[in-house]
Amino acid sequence: MFLARLKLTNFKNYESQYFDFSARLNCLTGLNGMGKTNVLDAIHLICLCKSHSGLSDRNLVRHEESFYRVEGHFDQAGEHTKIVARFLAGQSKEFERNGNTLERLSDHIGRFPVVMIAPDDVALVQEGSEDRRKFIDSTLSQNSAEYLGSLMTYNALLRQRNALLKSFAEYHRFDSALLESIDRQMPEPASVVFSHRKAFEATLIPLFSDFYSAISGSRERVSVTYQSDLEEKSMESVLSENLDKDRVLQRTTAGVHKDDLRLFMNDLPVKKFASQGQLKSFLLALRLAQYEALRLSTGTAPILLLDDIFDKLDENRVRHLVGLLLERDFGQVFITDTQRLRIEAVIREFPGDFRIFEVENGSVSV
Ligand SMILES: Nc1ncnc2c1ncn2[C@@H]1O[C@H](COP(=O)(O)OP(=O)(O)O)[C@@H](O)[C@H]1O
Ligand SMILES: [Mg+2]
Repeated sequence: MFLARLKLTNFKNYESQYFDFSARLNCLTGLNGMGKTNVLDAIHLICLCKSHSGLSDRNLVRHEESFYRVEGHFDQAGEHTKIVARFLAGQSKEFERNGNTLERLSDHIGRFPVVMIAPDDVALVQEGSEDRRKFIDSTLSQNSAEYLGSLMTYNALLRQRNALLKSFAEYHRFDSALLESIDRQMPEPASVVFSHRKAFEATLIPLFSDFYSAISGSRERVSVTYQSDLEEKSMESVLSENLDKDRVLQRTTAGVHKDDLRLFMNDLPVKKFASQGQLKSFLLALRLAQYEALRLSTGTAPILLLDDIFDKLDENRVRHLVGLLLERDFGQVFITDTQRLRIEAVIREFPGDFRIFEVENGSVSV
C-alpha cells in the first residue's frame, strides 16, 4: 500500500499543491518553517482522520481562508482508492472514499495504517501517562474496529460518570441508581480495551528489544510493561472500591483510562537514568516496534513518517538507521530534513526508488 498522490488545498501554509510520491522513499527538504511537517500532518490526517499536531480542524485551515481540502490517492495491489478530507469552518469534517461520503470515520481508520515519529516524541518518556495511552490507542485503533468502538464507548461513559459525580457534589445529593446505570455498562468495553492492551504488550516487548539493539548496537536491557487497574481486579470492583474516593474527588479515579506503560532500561526507569543518546534510540525503537506490530496485525506495511529524526544524530548513525529501515523492507517512507546534502549523501546508496522534494514557503519543486 502506498500514497501515490497528495493534493492540498488551503491546508496550513499550502494554498494549492500536489505531490506525486515514490512508492518507497520520499524526502522533503527545506529550511525550518517552510512546510515539511505540514505535509506529513496532511498524510496523517488522510489516514487517521486527525492531525498529528493535535490541532483542531479550524487551525489546519490556511489563514484567511474558510476551508481546507486534502485529497489522497492510494494504491494497494493494483487497486486504487481516492480519499478526500474536507472541512468547512463551522461545519463538521467530512471524508469521502471514491466519491462516497463516509458515514463513520471509524470505518476508515486503519485501512491505511501509518506511524509517525516526531521530535516531540520525548513526551512519550517524559510526560504523564496520557501520551503513552495515546501511543497504545493509536496502534490498536488502527488494527481493531472492536477496540476503537469499545474505547469510544468507554470514554463516553466515563464522561457521563464524571459529569454525574460533579453534579452530585454540586447539588448535595447522591443518586445511586443513576450511577449504577452507568457502572453496569462500563465493565464490558473496559474488558475489551484491557485484553487488547494486554495482548499488545506481549507483541511489543520482543519487537522493541530487537529494534533497540539493532539501533543502538548496545546491550542495555530495555523493557516495557503494561500497567492497569484491571490487572488484578474486575472493572466492577474497581468502580465499587473507589466509589467514596470518586465522590470526594468528583471524578472516576481508577479504570483503564488510567493505564500506563512503564519504560525501563537496565531495570531502572528510562526517564531518570537514560542519556540523551539512549533516550533517542529508546524512542525510535519503541516507534519501530509499533510499526512492526501494526504490520503484523493489519497485514499491510504502514506508511512511515519520520519528521526531523536526523537532527542531533551524526551522519554514521543516520546512515545506519536508514539502512536498517530500508533493509527491513519497510513500506513507503517519508523523511524530512533541513539539510539536503546530508539526506542526499545517505540515500544515494539506496538502490530502490526515491524522490526528493524541495519545500519552500508552501510550494514544492522536485
Ligand atoms: N493555518 C495555517 N495557515 C497558514 N500558515 C500556517 C498555518 N499553520 C501553520 N502555518 C505555517 O506553516 C509553517 C510551518 O510549517 P512546518 O511544516 O511546521 O515547517 P517545517 O518545514 O519546519 O516542518 C509556518 O510558517 C507556519 O506559519
Ligand atoms: Mg518540521
